[in-house]
Amino acid sequence: MGEVILVSGGAGYIGCHTVLALQAAGHEVLVLDDFSEGHLAALCGTDYVRGSLLDRQLLKDVFSRQTIAGVVHFAARTYVGESVERPGRYYENNVVGTLQLLDAMVAAGCKRLVFSSTCATYGEPEEIPIREDAPQRPVSPYGNTKLVCELMQRDFARAHKMGIIALRYFNAAGADPDERVGEDHRPETHLIPLVIAAAAGRLPQVKVFGDDYPTPDGTCIRDYVHVSDLADAHVLALQRLLGGEQGFHAYNLGNNTGTSVREVIAAVERVSGKKVPFVVAPRRPGDPPRLVGSPDLIMRELGWQPRFADIDSIVRTAWQWHSAHPDGYGDS
Ligand code: UFG
Repeated sequence: MGEVILVSGGAGYIGCHTVLALQAAGHEVLVLDDFSEGHLAALCGTDYVRGSLLDRQLLKDVFSRQTIAGVVHFAARTYVGESVERPGRYYENNVVGTLQLLDAMVAAGCKRLVFSSTCATYGEPEEIPIREDAPQRPVSPYGNTKLVCELMQRDFARAHKMGIIALRYFNAAGADPDERVGEDHRPETHLIPLVIAAAAGRLPQVKVFGDDYPTPDGTCIRDYVHVSDLADAHVLALQRLLGGEQGFHAYNLGNNTGTSVREVIAAVERVSGKKVPFVVAPRRPGDPPRLVGSPDLIMRELGWQPRFADIDSIVRTAWQWHSAHPDGYGDS
């Protein structure tokens, strides 16, 4: 094997789209995934190692078997609500897992890392759109773990002359436009796949969590970003690092576009031609009313350009994938 890019969590939702984008850009990819959340079918035949970042020996073996030119690191637990109930699980998987990965990289002399971070590190923003220099004050254990990972990475980048780029995603949504991979979380908690399931009759209705927020229609506003556009950003970030960039850098990945829950429902109705049954339910604890991110920095510095920036195109690719795969990957 020549030089490969290691993708941790490459069988997960954003990971598998990124694997396809890396391969399309000519990179050889090796996935490391414990398949606790990811799907084997999402790998589309890519080489993989089954295992966890918590397994030090496995990491040592992976880094000693081949030259790893860089790492794209997704493997993490990502449910905000669960992180409140079981913080230990989040600190272990996200923080200890990332620390062990960094240690293994240093031991192997691998110095380039693209990290999957989140707008949840900002907490409740003071200003919209959110820029990278906004205060990072997470309001959930999940957000805390991702912020701790960013802090560790700053220190490792400085001490070991590494190049590390953290990408802070807003709301990932949509599916591969060629329908090779898509979104299949178990359980599904995200708005767009749930609204699609209600439109398709697979769910009796979708719950709108609160319609009394201080927003124009009373429902929460989020900045939805197409998962293939996120994937492209990882490729650009990795290529920047392969070009010799050092230090720690963080970029937002949003579209600077706020879409409310009601507007998502309307978009699904437009795209699918079906009515979406919904009920208004109480607010979900911890949901900020409005999260919108400015992507100016990544556009300027890395040349990122989203291909699916409007909500209808995002929803259309999701609708197509879910219509073709009503049971997701069918491996539950
Ligand atoms: N929502 C509903 N009904 C549902 C599900 C969601 O009304 O059944 C609403 C939520 O209240 C929220 C919006 O739809 O206002 C989006 O919710 P998602 O669960 O789809 O996404 P979140 O904004 O909660 O979460 C996303 C990422 C997390 C990340 C978080 C940061 O999925 O990983 O943004 O705030 F941490």
